[in-house]
Amino acid sequence: MERYAIILAAGKGTRMKSNLYKVLHQVAGKPMVAHVLDAVSGLNPVKTITVVGHGADAVKAALGERSEFVLQAEQLGTGHAVAQAEVLLKDLSGHTLVTYGDTPLLTAETLDAAFKFHIENEMKATVLTAIAPDPFGYGRIIRDDLGHVQRIVEQKDASLAQAEITEINTGTYIFDNRLLFEALAQVDTNNAQGEFYVTDAIGILKAANQHVGAYVMSDFNESLGVNDRIQLSFAEKIMRQRINRRHMRQGVSLIDPENTYIESDVVIGTDTIIEANVRLKGKTIIGSGNFISSGTEIIDSTIGDNVSIRQSVIEESIIHQGSDVGPFAHIRPMSELLENVHVGNFSEIKKATLGRGTKVGHLSYIGDVSVGEDVNFGAGVIIVNYDGKSKFHSEIADYAFIGSNSNIISPVKVGENALIAAGSTITQDVEAADLAIARAKQVNKTARAKGKPHYR
Ligand code: UD1
Ligand code: CA
Repeated sequence: MERYAIILAAGKGTRMKSNLYKVLHQVAGKPMVAHVLDAVSGLNPVKTITVVGHGADAVKAALGERSEFVLQAEQLGTGHAVAQAEVLLKDLSGHTLVTYGDTPLLTAETLDAAFKFHIENEMKATVLTAIAPDPFGYGRIIRDDLGHVQRIVEQKDASLAQAEITEINTGTYIFDNRLLFEALAQVDTNNAQGEFYVTDAIGILKAANQHVGAYVMSDFNESLGVNDRIQLSFAEKIMRQRINRRHMRQGVSLIDPENTYIESDVVIGTDTIIEANVRLKGKTIIGSGNFISSGTEIIDSTIGDNVSIRQSVIEESIIHQGSDVGPFAHIRPMSELLENVHVGNFSEIKKATLGRGTKVGHLSYIGDVSVGEDVNFGAGVIIVNYDGKSKFHSEIADYAFIGSNSNIISPVKVGENALIAAGSTITQDVEAADLAIARAKQVNKTARAKGKPHYR
C-alpha cells in the first residue's frame, strides 16, 4: 500500500508576533517544519508534498530536495491548503498522511504506528488524537455513545459542553488518498472563522458511512502544536529533554541535563562528560572520553577523543584527540588543532593549523598561519595578519620557539627549531635553527630616576 504525505506550512503564524514565518521558528536549532519532515521521512512516503504560502521561498530553502512543494497563494484554511496538493496526488491509490509544520515533536515511530493502525483496521480516515491537560485552542473529538468518532469541532465553534472534551485533534491524519480529495471538495466555510477546515473531512467521510477512527497517542506532549512563543518554549524544553535522554542512554554523562543545550543533529561518543550550560550546535561531532566544562559553546565542529574543553567557544573547527582548550579560549572558523595541542586562557585561534603537541598557553592571537609540531608560543604572541586591507599568511615550522610578547608580521616564514627572542617584532623570514632578536636594545641611565616621587 503506497504512502504519501502532505505537510501544511503556508500559514503566517500571526500569534508568534514575528517577522519570521511560523514553521521556520527553531526548536533545538532546527526549523519546526524540518523536524516534521524528519518524522515524515521515517515513513518512506512515495511522495512528500509541503504546502507553502507565507515565506514560500524560505520554507523551500529550509527543506530543500527532501520535499516537493505546492503553493497555497491565499490562506483560506487547512482544508484549502491540503486541496492544493491534489494536482500531485489526484487519482493515486494509497493512503495519505496529512500533518502540520507547527507540530515539531511528532516522531516517526508514532506516525508509523498510526499508519499501521489505519491499515490494519481498514480505515478510510484516521485522526491522531491525544488527551490534553488543557485542551483550549485545539479541535475537539466528538464521539457517539458507542465511542465512535463522529467529527471534529474547532475551539471557536465548540459549544460549552464540547469545550469540556479533553480528547483533542493533534492535526495529523491518515486518509484514503482518493476519498480525501472527494471529501475536501465538499468542505465549506460555514464556521466561526470562515475557513475551509481539513478537520471537516473527518465528519464528511463519517456521514458518508466510511470507516473513520482515531489513533490515541499515549503522550500528549508529542502532539504539541506551536502557535505562540510560550508553546515554542514548551516544545524546546520537551525536545531538549528528548535529545539529552537519548545521549545519556547512549553513554554520555550530562551533569545537569535540564540546563544542557544540544541541538538535534549533534553526535557525541560514550564517556564524554558535559557540564551545565554547555551549548552544542549545528553539525557538531564529539568523540569519546571528552570533558566539556560549563560555559562552552561548540558550533559546527568536530572534536576527537579525550579532549578537554573548558569555558570556551569553538566554531567550524576540528580538534584532534588529546588536545585541551581553555579556559576562555576562542577557536574561530577553519582552524585545526592536531593531536595533543594545548590552547590556554585568553587565546584566539583563527584559520590556523596547529601541529601535534603545539602550545599556545596564554593571551595570544594566532590567525592565518600554518604551525608545525611542538611549537611553543610564549605568552602574548600576536600573529599580525591584517594590514587594514588584506590578510596575510605565515608559516611556522616544527619545534620553533616564539618568545613571549612577540609580533609576527605576516607574511613570514619561521624555520624549524628557530628561536625568536621575547618582545621581538618579526618582519623577515627566520631560517631554521636561527635566533632572531628584533627589539630595541636596553639603555640604563645612572641615577636618572632620582627625584621621582616615592609611593608607599
Ligand atoms: C489546527 C486544527 C485543530 C488542531 C490543531 C492542532 C484545523 C482547522 N484545526 O488548529 O483542530 O487541534 O491544529 O495543532 O485544521 N495552514 C496552511 N494554510 C492555511 C491555514 C493553515 O498551510 O490556510 C497551516 C499552518 O501553517 C499550520 C497548520 O496549517 O502549520 C495549522 O494551522 P493553524 O492555524 O496553526 O491551526 P490551529 O488553529 O492550530
Ligand atoms: Ca497550530
